[in-house]
Amino acid sequence: MSDYLLPRLQALAPYVPGEQPQDKRYVKLNTNESPFAPSPRVLAAINPENVSHLNLYPDPLCRTLREAIASEYGLAAENVFVGNGSDEVLGFAFMAYADETCGATIPDVSYGFYRVYAQLYRVSPVIVPLNEDFTLPVEKFLGQGQLVAIANPNAPTSIALPLAQVERIVAGNPNSVVLIDEAYVDFGGETCVPLLARYKNLLIVRTFSKSRSLAGGRLGYALASPEIVDDLNRVKSSFHPYSINNLTMLAGIEAMRDRDYFASCVAGICAQREQSAADLRKLGFTVAPSATNFLFAAPPGMDGQPYYRKLKERGVLVRYLDQPTLRRYVRITVGSAPQMSALMTATQQILKEAQA
Ligand SMILES: Cc1ncc(COP(=O)(O)O)c(C=O)c1O
Repeated sequence: MSDYLLPRLQALAPYVPGEQPQDKRYVKLNTNESPFAPSPRVLAAINPENVSHLNLYPDPLCRTLREAIASEYGLAAENVFVGNGSDEVLGFAFMAYADETCGATIPDVSYGFYRVYAQLYRVSPVIVPLNEDFTLPVEKFLGQGQLVAIANPNAPTSIALPLAQVERIVAGNPNSVVLIDEAYVDFGGETCVPLLARYKNLLIVRTFSKSRSLAGGRLGYALASPEIVDDLNRVKSSFHPYSINNLTMLAGIEAMRDRDYFASCVAGICAQREQSAADLRKLGFTVAPSATNFLFAAPPGMDGQPYYRKLKERGVLVRYLDQPTLRRYVRITVGSAPQMSALMTATQQILKEAQA
């Protein structure tokens, strides 16, 4: 860090992405990517003809992509905003709705970037502890009078909040924006898209990174009232109007339209998740009920950190989050059948060694 950096930014604790070590090939179950390649229609769209148009700037309004997303949800393009990954959409939302005068309320255990954005935009967030069983204390999120940001299903806990409870929070904050991050909703949560018709303060954030196999393409979107979409476009156009490149736009359109491929990937991941959760429980793990593409799991007789380390020594990467209430747990992405079987083999060895 240079001496020139603003003191406020020197004090910032940036988001720490899941590690991507280069020392050897790992079974990578630490960043909640899809084990499946993008749709064959995506692969076909990234062709030499389309690549040859990279000399031209992309459409800053991303009209065709927004129409493709809108038609999937029975909405209009005016209800859709797109960004470079949902991280960018979240960043623009915090920039639009929270600062030192208008704060933000977030859960203590949730997607780590919410705290980082809050710090970046000089927000002192109200941080609400989850219940002991990692569920959300809904009543503590009512009447906030400032931005409320929640992931549903939550990460890293994998637990979903029922739609009626989400509605209580949206209805309970009529004077502020309620951001529901539905990054994982396709794997078993209840989407709050039906609430959009009734609540103009609702902002839903989604991603192509998980259920649509495009983490490397960097594409996320928001579904909201035309007024909120307008707000986000104002911020985007004041910051980086071309944040979605031509190829990612084409990839997103095809990934959204290929419903069969999407459905088969989601079904495959959910089936594998149930199998792996059952296998881990048989070994004595505590596994939270997951509505996501990952498992929040505590090994028997050992904390999360030593289990994470021993797995890494055996070439399997999972995510350990260094927070006191999560000490016993790791977050395990649901990978392919061979990846999950490598996890199980390594886990059995580790538990055996611990008992010896
Ligand atoms: C809850 C949640 N929201 C948003 C994101 C960001 O996803 P992306 O920027 O790849 O769209 C993640 C990534 O893991 C996440 O877990």
